[in-house]
Amino acid sequence: MVILGAGAAGMFAAIEAGRRGRSVLVVDHARAPGEKIRISGGGRCNFTNLHAAPDRYLSANPRFCISALKRFTADDFIERVKRRGIAFHEKTLGQLFCDGSAAEIIAMLTDDMRDAGVTLRLATEIEAVERANEGFTVRLSSGLVGCSSLVLATGGKSIPKMGATGLAYRIAANFGLAVTETRPGLVPLTFGDDLKARLAPLSGLSVDGEAKVGKTRFAEAILFTHRGISGPAILQISSFWREGMPLTLDLAPGDDIAGLLAAARAEHGRRQVRTVLSAALPHRLAIVIEAMTGATVHLAELGDKRLRAIGEAVNRWQVTPTGTEGYRTAEVTLGGIDTAGLQSSTMEASAMPGLYVIGEAVDVTGWLGGYNFQWAWSSGWAAGQVI
Ligand code: FDA
Repeated sequence: MVILGAGAAGMFAAIEAGRRGRSVLVVDHARAPGEKIRISGGGRCNFTNLHAAPDRYLSANPRFCISALKRFTADDFIERVKRRGIAFHEKTLGQLFCDGSAAEIIAMLTDDMRDAGVTLRLATEIEAVERANEGFTVRLSSGLVGCSSLVLATGGKSIPKMGATGLAYRIAANFGLAVTETRPGLVPLTFGDDLKARLAPLSGLSVDGEAKVGKTRFAEAILFTHRGISGPAILQISSFWREGMPLTLDLAPGDDIAGLLAAARAEHGRRQVRTVLSAALPHRLAIVIEAMTGATVHLAELGDKRLRAIGEAVNRWQVTPTGTEGYRTAEVTLGGIDTAGLQSSTMEASAMPGLYVIGEAVDVTGWLGGYNFQWAWSSGWAAGQVI
């Protein structure tokens, strides 16, 4: 059997199938396996999340991921990490990271593949894939290979510089599988030139805030960048945001800024707005809010309406990003091969027996925080039991 892609999902499926005594060839055009694992989590790989559950995933069919996530859970992966002796810790919100390096996860996977008798062929181009009798023929830069089962595990489109090509979508479409609209997810958002110029002094500044779009909200850090905004709260909300939608940001959750200003005005009318704001916000941000709301005067000169407007600018800042930074920096691709055409327990294409799709290529996208690797392990495991 042939697995296209030696990323998290492909390697995991290969281990499972190899352990069942199947003859497995894994092919990748990269020079090393698991390149995204290597750079993930700032080099420490956020390999799963203690709270991994179907409600942490986006998909046109939110129920599709239930089966695989239930059969191979975060605990199951943690068990393997422990057995291997990899030290890890919970950073925040159930996110588990290696104490040392992501390379330890890659080494675990490549050793397990070797022990399971899997053949790994790197630096190999996939030139064509065709249906042949009951199976498939794959034309590689190294020659033709025939197989009865073919697994698409080449991931999504994010970070083309690291070898993402969207190949799985093209192969699936050629075989008649539907592919839902794809777009960058877990991605920084960008602002227009005017706003960028006004926020320029904040570049690099991070605040604990809350980002909201519709009914979805995330309370985590918000980072100002020279292009717009990023940080965990923004990456999370970006997956729910669509072009043209306003975001509501609370830059000081828990602080009623209008109330703070009114109380300060009653006692210290000659105080500047920035001085009061600095009690709840970093000073640099206080100065920018003061300027953006035209409040560079003493508190006593501001009426209730003006104070409320400043409060809104901090606690309910409505801003419409112009776009995202795109696949260049997106951690994942939203959308993908339509789950309607796949069996949720095996990841096999219903209309094309022998063809399987796993990992990011499927229209299942996790939140930030280890959920995407858990999907790669779970979907890879599910396919690995039957291929
Ligand atoms: P993945 O992309 O890992 O693997 C696909 C493989 O296919 C690659 O080896 C690629 O070279 C190969 N391939 C692609 N096109 C090909 C072609 N045309 N021919 C041959 N081979 C081809 N998630 C998480 O849970 N925790 C985290 O800490 C992070 N951190 C993170 C950081 C950054 C910077 C990014 C970009 C992403 C993350 N992620 C993450 C997301 C996570 O990396 C992602 O969801 C998984 O790697 C998906 O696993 P797959 O195996 O499906 O694809």
